[in-house]
Amino acid sequence: MKKIQISPSILSADFSQLGNEIKKLEQAGADMIHVDVMDGHFVPNLTIGPPVIKSLKKHSSIKFDVHLMISPVHKYIEDYSKAGADIITVHPEATENLKSSILKIKKLGKKAGVSLNPESEISLIENHLDEIDLVLIMSVNPGFGGQKFMPEVLDKVKKLKKIKDEKKFNYDIEIDGGINFENSKLAVNAGANILVSGTTIFKSNDGDIKKNIELLRSH
Ligand code: DX5
Ligand code: ZN
Repeated sequence: MKKIQISPSILSADFSQLGNEIKKLEQAGADMIHVDVMDGHFVPNLTIGPPVIKSLKKHSSIKFDVHLMISPVHKYIEDYSKAGADIITVHPEATENLKSSILKIKKLGKKAGVSLNPESEISLIENHLDEIDLVLIMSVNPGFGGQKFMPEVLDKVKKLKKIKDEKKFNYDIEIDGGINFENSKLAVNAGANILVSGTTIFKSNDGDIKKNIELLRSH
């Protein structure tokens, strides 16, 4: 059974202290840092881009799990790779040719992820499951932290886990949005092995990040 990994989303961090916040996450035992990149076009919010990621990467030695909620995405993949992304996750709806975007990420030596919004079906990506390193299942509509978990997406997690086991694929199953200490257990039991969390990690237990990461990991 793969160890459950925790990827805290810095969308809920103090953006005026991002370097220190990332250091705190690393010291608190985060397995990677979930960086939510938003362009105000693919999603109705705008966060950070390659220059900020580049300077943050200098202060961190753990993987940057970069979630690109931008469209068009293909022409920017190299910028995020150069900035220091280790995992680059794209949304199928944001690229004209998902296969070429996946291949581009892998050619750059990075791990390739694809993300499914709550209303998007597995059929959108089923022809690529043998090529990717990660499927990111959105359990909220992308754009903001602090939203309510949508349990109906767990069916997709279960289906992806079944396909993975049957076809001996190797992709990680990451779930992202509204994850807390209760639904994280449902997500892991459904087959997720990477949990993204912003609000629960930064805000629960008086902001005790270490405790919150440990609680999420223990299920
Ligand atoms: C939403 C982002 C998520 C979000 C998670 O578009 O992709 O990563 O920040 O934050 P919480 O855990 O607060 O839902
Ligand atoms: Zn995200």
